[in-house]
Amino acid sequence: MLTKKAFDLKKIQRGNKALEVDKNLVEPLAKGYLERMSLDEKIEQLHGSKNSGDMGTEKGLYWSGENVEQGIPPLKMVDGPRGLRSGLATAFPVPMARGASFDPALEKRVGMAIGAEVAAVGGNVLLAPTINLLRHPGWGRAQETYSEDPFHMGLMGLAFVCGAQNFVLASPKHFALNNLEITRFEVSAEIEERALHEVYLPHFRRSILEGGAASIMSAYNKVNGTYCGENHYLLEKILRADWGFEGFVESDWLLGTRSTAPAINSGMDIEMPAAYWFKKEKIKDSIAKGEILPEIVDRNVLRVLRQKIAFGLDSEVEISKERIECKEHRSLAQEVAEKSFVLLKNEGVLPLKRAEKIALIGKLAATENLGDRGSSMVRSSNISTPLNALENWNGASVTYFEDPPARQLLQGFDVAVVVAGYTYQDEGEYIPTLDKESSGTDLARGGDRISLRLPIDQEELIGTVSSRANKTVVLLETGSSVNVSSWIDSIHSLLVVWYPGCEGGKAIARTLFGEVNPSGRLPVLFPKSDQQLGEWDVNAITLKHGLFHGYRYLDRNKEKPLFPFGFGLSYTEFVVRNVCINRKEGSFSVMVAVENVGKVDGECVLQLYVSCLDSEVERAEKELKGFGRLSLAVNEEMSLEFEVPDTDLCFYNPEEGWVLESCLYRFSLGFSSEDLPSSQTWFFDGVSWTNKG
Ligand code: BGC
Repeated sequence: MLTKKAFDLKKIQRGNKALEVDKNLVEPLAKGYLERMSLDEKIEQLHGSKNSGDMGTEKGLYWSGENVEQGIPPLKMVDGPRGLRSGLATAFPVPMARGASFDPALEKRVGMAIGAEVAAVGGNVLLAPTINLLRHPGWGRAQETYSEDPFHMGLMGLAFVCGAQNFVLASPKHFALNNLEITRFEVSAEIEERALHEVYLPHFRRSILEGGAASIMSAYNKVNGTYCGENHYLLEKILRADWGFEGFVESDWLLGTRSTAPAINSGMDIEMPAAYWFKKEKIKDSIAKGEILPEIVDRNVLRVLRQKIAFGLDSEVEISKERIECKEHRSLAQEVAEKSFVLLKNEGVLPLKRAEKIALIGKLAATENLGDRGSSMVRSSNISTPLNALENWNGASVTYFEDPPARQLLQGFDVAVVVAGYTYQDEGEYIPTLDKESSGTDLARGGDRISLRLPIDQEELIGTVSSRANKTVVLLETGSSVNVSSWIDSIHSLLVVWYPGCEGGKAIARTLFGEVNPSGRLPVLFPKSDQQLGEWDVNAITLKHGLFHGYRYLDRNKEKPLFPFGFGLSYTEFVVRNVCINRKEGSFSVMVAVENVGKVDGECVLQLYVSCLDSEVERAEKELKGFGRLSLAVNEEMSLEFEVPDTDLCFYNPEEGWVLESCLYRFSLGFSSEDLPSSQTWFFDGVSWTNKG
């Protein structure tokens, strides 16, 4: 039987420039530059520069540290997570949608495509990926990140970094614990060391240790009372001393730097987008007062120079502008959308049949709804909306209504397809100076969602249609989870399409008509009620972070969500046939065989969770430790192989670091965090492992 690896690190890493660098060559070159530089020239490396009048942008690029005399190239930074934010570019489905693909190999290709488009406009630092863990799905920027789970986030973020770094430097952001919008410039994330290391940082660590991320963007917020931009514990102790990070840290924009000496001493290397705290006079003054040692300035400058040399920024390879919105990238955007849709309910309606008369209802069906209008906004030409795509679907009979038609009229259709959800007016990066209602191509204010329920007009739209139609399908456009409890029972099918990118409409049409079999899975659970996830205050000034949120929180409360993490239906059915776990040196090899027992071909996402059954410390009931995709024809059976290193079974003890407890461990396999039909337990006595069956 064919066996596939659930995750192939070597393949993901391939082509990542940071991992191919000969440090022995870079170091003397960087030091050589440093020796030839005056203090003024050094300081110029430490802040954003060009066009500071218009916030440092030049066609969306933020420059820093160009020195023509010394032959030092500038950094040219540009957003962002769902595509190049400069001119027209390929708008990919938002990262939360890509998270739903559970497909790091695909995410690497997205990273490569965005990296290539950035390089094509002359950029060399991509301000992405956003890998802030979704502590609560109401976070305004939920759509920009991948997941509520650190392991899942780790592989997706790593894949993006590796892909992007085939072309440019990546910049995972925002370090760290940035997960509330409205108070993002003030809020202090309160956290103990264990939760920090086990839950909120592992994905950053992975992007550095396995992905060689060349830079990191710090966050606006505070962690345990200290702004991230001057947080020595985060920037020097964890990033540098513990993880050995050798790249540079740039601040988040405007309010991301809060001081001169404390920030520089704490390891903030570049103030973006322009010099305010890092102005020459201020830095020189701090040096004169003995608040900053000259060698600290040298240390920070070296971190910048090293990456410029490592990535060969002085001899940039020209990437053709033709790459931007090229056919290959647009079809990748479509492929990703097709793998990201999550079918949550289907009572025999989908796929639609060609002969059926379809009423397509709701303004969003005709809206170019690509996501928020904060820094990750991307403008694309020719955006495929559900309306364009369904109207052009060969042989289909589709009639569009902006508002629900009268009962009598609607009864003449076999199926009503409602497009409902959010837009940039309901969620997104919070920019207080902007207008919430801004339209056209402008940025808009954004913010967190106070409630996970849809806006009232959207719930009414669904309610009215479902009360009049023969059958109702809802296509849900959103950046994160939605409280659908009040209307889920009144409809027949629910397909979450997120913000599906520039080819989203086509992907939707292909899925509705069964040319694509839905294979996305929820990277964030859908709760039964808002209250089920605990307290959520969008105006919080301190925010407690612990070991339990999302599925871990519900498990601990012995509660079930409406739709669990990892869940998604298909037009076919899969069953686990066999599980085999073997011990290897320092790790487990877990093989699971799955068969497609349904009537159509399809892809499934296998998930592996580990529980520590008799731990001495409080632990989550289970944690995701592996996932992978299998594409199976009807009746086909295949095996997926997971490798689980012992290090993934550890907990973090502030005194001793990572500890592998002598305990009973259960490996559970299946199709979501609540559907785990096979399991096996193993006992670790402190020295060796025994299979307990
Ligand atoms: C955002 C960053 C973004 C930066 C530059 C900030 O407001 O938080 O994510 O990269 O702006 O646009």
